[in-house]
Amino acid sequence: MESFYVTTPIFYINDVPSVGHVYPLTICDGLARLNRLRGKKTFFLTGLDENSVKTIAAAKKAGVESVQEYADEMAEKWVSTWRKLEYSNDDFIRTTQERHKSVVRDFFDKVYKKGDIYKGVYEGLYCEGCEAFVRESDLEDGNCALHLKPPKALKEQNYFFKLSKYQEQILEHIEKNPLFIQPASRRREIINFIKEGLDDTSISRPANGWGIPLPIDEKQVIWVWFDALINYLQPKEFWPADAHVVGKDIARFHCITWIGMLLSAAIELPKSILAHGFFTVNGQKMSKSLGNAIDPNYLAGKYGVDAIKYFVFREIPFGEDGDFSEKELKNRLNTELVANWSNLFYRSTSFGQKLFGKLPGPKAEGGEEKKLVAKIALTKAQVDELVDKNEFHHALEKIMELSSEGNKFFQDKKPWELRENAEDAVFYAVNVAANVSLLMAPFTPSASKTALDSLGVVNPPWGLAGTLFVKPGTPLAPVMLFKKI
Ligand code: MSP
Repeated sequence: MESFYVTTPIFYINDVPSVGHVYPLTICDGLARLNRLRGKKTFFLTGLDENSVKTIAAAKKAGVESVQEYADEMAEKWVSTWRKLEYSNDDFIRTTQERHKSVVRDFFDKVYKKGDIYKGVYEGLYCEGCEAFVRESDLEDGNCALHLKPPKALKEQNYFFKLSKYQEQILEHIEKNPLFIQPASRRREIINFIKEGLDDTSISRPANGWGIPLPIDEKQVIWVWFDALINYLQPKEFWPADAHVVGKDIARFHCITWIGMLLSAAIELPKSILAHGFFTVNGQKMSKSLGNAIDPNYLAGKYGVDAIKYFVFREIPFGEDGDFSEKELKNRLNTELVANWSNLFYRSTSFGQKLFGKLPGPKAEGGEEKKLVAKIALTKAQVDELVDKNEFHHALEKIMELSSEGNKFFQDKKPWELRENAEDAVFYAVNVAANVSLLMAPFTPSASKTALDSLGVVNPPWGLAGTLFVKPGTPLAPVMLFKKI
């Protein structure tokens, strides 16, 4: 059986989740669900990056004496939010867990034995928001361009990883594999960055009572990024990952540092790194530290989980930034999910139920019917092609187009006036509605399940889509998939 392993970044716990963090979770959830439907043995991993110095400061600010206690409290908040959003992750890793620490120690051991770790002095600029040393050229008016704060000048004794040794190998791998980093614009940027020359990376910090002690020097702890990236190796039987989904702000760590680390440890490389853009508010990244974050729990309560997930896939082309606006979310919900799909589903099943109780058989396959059947098959093929190119917004556009066609077909048949058209109107419209529901299943899992269950189609394989899979005689029980807000 083919397998599919997808990961989200693991999140810092100095704050609670925001709609910005919903973005990668939703993309991974959709990919995982799609691959499960396609019959692949799928693993979806997410979790928390807890060993950061930010955690210590946040615990202090929150007035919690024990940092571990603070971490446990925060972990509960993240887990409960993701549960509320009904994500289908197979595991939830926390970097304070022993199972993670032991993988990190083994990994460190391999790199150390390879001779790729040495002691040195680092002098440079450190951005606490990035948890990383930054280059002068990354600053805007002296501030980190992402966190809008000046980095601190640091001079420390650290251990270094010989990243520069792997520069050519990393570059060669990226150049030989055009789909390794997506989208292409990000790939070009990474290639250019590598060509400027890679420095060795400091991978330890002075010990501060938190984090994973450096196995060869207890006065130091492992730098949080070196530790965090290794989380992806946790489900051993699924490695290498098929896709690391990451924000563009952390693409370099994944496309360069992580690849160098894996080459050094002689571990297989992941198959792809998919870098997405940001949800912005008035053009600025949505984030707690910038004070413009929105609570996903609030949104889920008001609009429902599926509407949020749909919006993530529908609103922004993958890789680009796009403004998050509640108004637009409501608009998509009302005009596409309610007025188009839900309307088609409800009107065709309720009309059919009133007249026949169950799905009637088609009477004749005329020109209009043939056109609709061809459109169903074509839409399935287009959706497959588009999702494989991460063009989710286009895929959803095609599904909504099919739904519109279904509505138009039903409307044109006027089955309420022309009784002789009733069988065909119901049979084909219900089948279009069912196809829309199955094609939407990776993106709006809850409504899709409600729709398909009501037709007695339980756990359908993806391959059913594109066909007239709801058979005559199926009992009809109309349900409202979405309510207008
Ligand atoms: N802990 C590191 C990741 C380590 S992965 C081995 C980290 N954490 S984070 O909590 O700051 O961010 C996690 C992810 O959330 C990043 O990929 C980031 O791009 C993403 N997002 C945070 N705000 C976002 C938006 N406003 N929009 C889209 N994604 C955003 O970085």
